[in-house]
Amino acid sequence: MGGPEESQYWDGVYEKVRLEAVRESLGARCFHPVYNPGGKYSHKEAIFGSWIASVEAKSALVVGGGVDKIGIALATRGCQVTSLDLSPKAGELTRRLAVLKGVSQRVRCACGEWERADLGQTYDLIVFHDSLHHMRFEPALAQIDRHLAATGVLLALEPICPLPLVRLLHRRLPFHPFPFVATERELDFADLRRIEIVFGKVECRYFDFLTRESLSVLLFRLGLRQGLARLGAMDAWLIRHIRGLRGFASYVTLRATRA
Ligand SMILES: C[S@@+](CC[C@H](N)C(=O)[O-])C[C@H]1O[C@@H](n2cnc3c(N)ncnc32)[C@H](O)[C@@H]1O
Repeated sequence: MGGPEESQYWDGVYEKVRLEAVRESLGARCFHPVYNPGGKYSHKEAIFGSWIASVEAKSALVVGGGVDKIGIALATRGCQVTSLDLSPKAGELTRRLAVLKGVSQRVRCACGEWERADLGQTYDLIVFHDSLHHMRFEPALAQIDRHLAATGVLLALEPICPLPLVRLLHRRLPFHPFPFVATERELDFADLRRIEIVFGKVECRYFDFLTRESLSVLLFRLGLRQGLARLGAMDAWLIRHIRGLRGFASYVTLRATRA
């Protein structure tokens, strides 16, 4: 994971990104419209956005930020941001976006593999958005431990697939909107426990059991886009109240602090 091949793969993805479209979507509450074919912000994105907004951070690090809308949003709030990504193209686009938004003084772009990075400082806030599951988990976790300030907060929104049978079926479901990258691995309960062991305190919310990406795309194609956001909220409510459904969730948001 994280070698030149993967870097080239992501460069290829970001070659196709139109910066103007990213800029236009910056004001929207959805950090990631691509996961939400209905065009509205999804329930999990809204929750994650409110978690990010609730952290009083002077310094923030976004890891695997891609074209880093989260980093730009944090810099717009006055935070000093480092945006790290494997892809030089992503870094270039983030830099240009920061200039367009007038926050280039507060955004530093670093290019490289997170598992080997040494950024020479610690951060009040470290954010992963759909990126941790592309990395080697243990080295990535050690790096978070090294770069998170004593009173810092780790926030992540990541795919999860806790049950082996669901994991097996998941990739075979039709209508999945994206090709899987060979090296990606959704998180599982053991990973969450490891995070808890390292940091001491972890809060998790689980999402998208009914509204998993493949099913959302199917519903969208059937013209049921209006119901998607409501279904996502209902879905999260069900998972929250029926513990057994967590095994079927396809996304998790987590907030970790040192106990
Ligand atoms: C699915 S994209 C998500 C991008 C962005 N966070 C978002 O939500 O739009 C995963 C990102 O992680 C980056 N990435 C993958 N492996 C990495 C690694 N080992 N170190 C740093 N970045 C990595 C990729 O270059 C890519 O930009």
